[in-house]
Amino acid sequence: MEAVVVYASQYGNTRLIAEAIGRGLGPEARVVEAAGFSPAQLAPGSLLVVGSPIVGWKPLEGLGVWLDALGPGSLAGVRTAAFDTRVKLFIHGDAAKKIERALETAGAERAAEPTWYYVKGSEGPLLDGEVERAEVWGAALAAG
Ligand SMILES: Cc1cc2nc3c(=O)[nH]c(=O)nc-3n(C[C@H](O)[C@H](O)[C@H](O)COP(=O)(O)O)c2cc1C
Repeated sequence: MEAVVVYASQYGNTRLIAEAIGRGLGPEARVVEAAGFSPAQLAPGSLLVVGSPIVGWKPLEGLGVWLDALGPGSLAGVRTAAFDTRVKLFIHGDAAKKIERALETAGAERAAEPTWYYVKGSEGPLLDGEVERAEVWGAALAAG
C-alpha cells in the first residue's frame, strides 16, 4: 500500500509528528511538505495522512491553500486521515476536522477519526509521549 504523510509546520513540531506517523506506517511511507506534493500522484487505494498546526483556529495558511486546490473527486478511492498540533487551551479551535472535511469534499474515504497532538507553547516542544503516540497511530492506520 502506498502511504504518504503530508504536513505543514512553522516551528518543526508538526514535522516531528508527521515523521513519527511515517515511521509507524512503515519503511515505504513517504513524509513530505504539502508545498512539494501533488495528490494527483496518488493511486487509488493509497493512504494519505494530512497534518497542520492550528494557527488562529485553522490549519496553517499554506496547508489551507493546498486543501483549497484539491479538485472535487481528486481524492476518489484514496483513504485519508487528518491530525493537528495545538496548545492545551480551554478554547483552542480546530484544524484536524477542517482538514478532514476538505479531504472528504475531494472524495476521500475516512480511514480514521481526526486526531491531535499537544505542544507546550507556540514553538513547542511537544508534550512528553506525543511522538510515541503518533508512531502508534501510524501503525494502527497501516494495519487498518
Ligand atoms: C499565530 C499563532 C496562532 C496560534 N493559534 C492557535 C490556536 O488557535 N489554537 C491552538 O490550539 N494553538 C494555536 N497556536 C499554537 C500552534 O498550534 C503551535 O504553534 C503549533 O502546534 C506548533 O506547530 P509547528 O511547530 O509545526 O509550527 C498558534 C500559534 C501561533 C504562532
